[in-house]
Amino acid sequence: MTALFQPFTLKDVTLRNRIAIPPMCQYMAEDGLVNDWHQVHYAGMARGGAGLVVVEATAVAPEGRISPNCTGIWSDAHAQAFVPVVKAIKAAGSVPGIQIAHAGRKASANRPWDGDDHIPEGDARGWQTLAPSAIAFGHHLPKTPREMTLDDIARVRQDFVDAARRARDAGFEWIELHFAHGYLGQSFFSEHSNQRTDAYGGSFDNRSRFLLETLAAVREVWPEHLPLTARFGVIEYDGRDEQTLAESIELARRFKAGGLDLLSVSVGFTIAETNIPWGPAFLGEVSRRVRDEAGIPVTSAWGFGTPQLAEEAVSSRQLDIVSVGRAHLADPHWAYFAAKELGVDKASWTLPAPYAHWLERYR
Ligand SMILES: Cc1cc2nc3c(=O)[nH]c(=O)nc-3n(C[C@H](O)[C@H](O)[C@H](O)COP(=O)(O)O)c2cc1C
Repeated sequence: MTALFQPFTLKDVTLRNRIAIPPMCQYMAEDGLVNDWHQVHYAGMARGGAGLVVVEATAVAPEGRISPNCTGIWSDAHAQAFVPVVKAIKAAGSVPGIQIAHAGRKASANRPWDGDDHIPEGDARGWQTLAPSAIAFGHHLPKTPREMTLDDIARVRQDFVDAARRARDAGFEWIELHFAHGYLGQSFFSEHSNQRTDAYGGSFDNRSRFLLETLAAVREVWPEHLPLTARFGVIEYDGRDEQTLAESIELARRFKAGGLDLLSVSVGFTIAETNIPWGPAFLGEVSRRVRDEAGIPVTSAWGFGTPQLAEEAVSSRQLDIVSVGRAHLADPHWAYFAAKELGVDKASWTLPAPYAHWLERYR
């Protein structure tokens, strides 16, 4: 038996294997509402056999969308629209997860294929962005955000809580707080984007405060028996990596003490000038450090998308589950073919019969 195709249990949830489809924005929503595109996309992903499907970064408030076409969960109607998506993921034997998010100063942008840049000032499609400090990301995202007041901070924290409650009521069984990739949570933690002088900036404790308070508040409404997870950029590759990683590991310990069940290890992306060592499985050893030193289960992504790399990451105990993104866009049946390639016993193959019957002898 391979490590990749062992079930994984976290709280009362058991994944049929160690393969997760990480959140991937589709930029296809209207007014934040999911539609037929999302229904077909997520049903197809789940049918392919992954243990976990995490729905894309879904905004807790309208101004927290990356683009005008991002999904949202800021009203009950938004949550209701997710119900058929959740049902389809479950019907396919996968666990339905959702990433709830606020894009902070990286919000109000065009879709990647429309430029990926900030919507220009004066264009009615855009909006005022919010961040811990009035510091722009720069480059393709030049808009200067408004520095959040204490009331803004309390309001967005509550938006996360309301989003989690709605996600719970829509039937999601796994939630991921998006504290990564230079969006709002990450930008509170990083000194590149947070230069506040109040209780939310400066020291490690203060820069961690928004994240830990949000986690604690969500923990109150998210059921104790279901996994509460977060995605966080533990490293920036900005030349200060040991220091950042040491702080991140301490934060991961505090996340765990605050009720977090699993951390999705990623990159900070709070500045444009970095030396990210892009390459196969480059976050594997970083993830192992977080897992071992903070004592929390982890997943990670970025270049684990071959069966061999994914299997190696789990069997060598770098990761508890492997997140495979683009390889699933290329082939929603990635898990099925990974099982075949790794010689997994037929009983573990999860593809539905109308596909499996034909694909068994196909490759
Ligand atoms: C189309 C697309 C959309 C993405 N959207 C999100 C997102 O909503 N939230 C997130 O945390 N990461 C997002 N990512 C990053 C992926 O979750 C993942 O980390 C990345 O694709 C690297 O993994 P891979 O090498 O297996 O593709 C996105 C990536 C892609 C390709």
